[in-house]
Amino acid sequence: MLSWLSLAWKRVGGAVSLLMRAPFLAILLALTAAGTSLAAPSGQDAFDETCGECHALAPIAGQTAPPLAGVVGRKIASAPDFDYSDALKAKAGTWTEANLDAFLTAPASFAPGTTMYASVPDAATRQAIIAYLKTQK
Ligand code: HEC
Repeated sequence: MLSWLSLAWKRVGGAVSLLMRAPFLAILLALTAAGTSLAAPSGQDAFDETCGECHALAPIAGQTAPPLAGVVGRKIASAPDFDYSDALKAKAGTWTEANLDAFLTAPASFAPGTTMYASVPDAATRQAIIAYLKTQK
């Protein structure tokens, strides 16, 4: 009788501890999923979140930043109707992927005096944004 009772008690205890573990596992799974999406943001999401505050793809009236559709391969500081800083106007060449990477890493080092101060410290995010911009002609 006593051993039957203790066996039953162990079963209940096991079920309870499983039940208590279930939400914990669910939270762990959710965290893992969130971590994965943070580690590899889509270029479009990163662009919308990090650049969209100032930039649009197409030109819009009263823009605070130059339009970025077709920027990969475009001459630096060449969007019509945008009033670039002297710093960016003084830069020769086109926006190659390497130039964009350097600019987004540290705008003020690439073009001292530029009015763009937003940077993207994470290399993978920079690459994702540049890859996305390449698809926007
Ligand atoms: C706080 C506003 C702001 C944010 C956020 C911002 N920019 Fe800019 N960006 C500017 C401004 C202002 C300029 C013009 C800089 C100048 O004239 O010196 C500029 C210029 C540029 C240029 C040069 C374009 C050309 O026609 O030569 C590129 C490329 C660029 N930004 C990319 C980005 C990307 C990619 C992001 C997101 C990671 C981003 N910017 C985020 C304000 C911003």
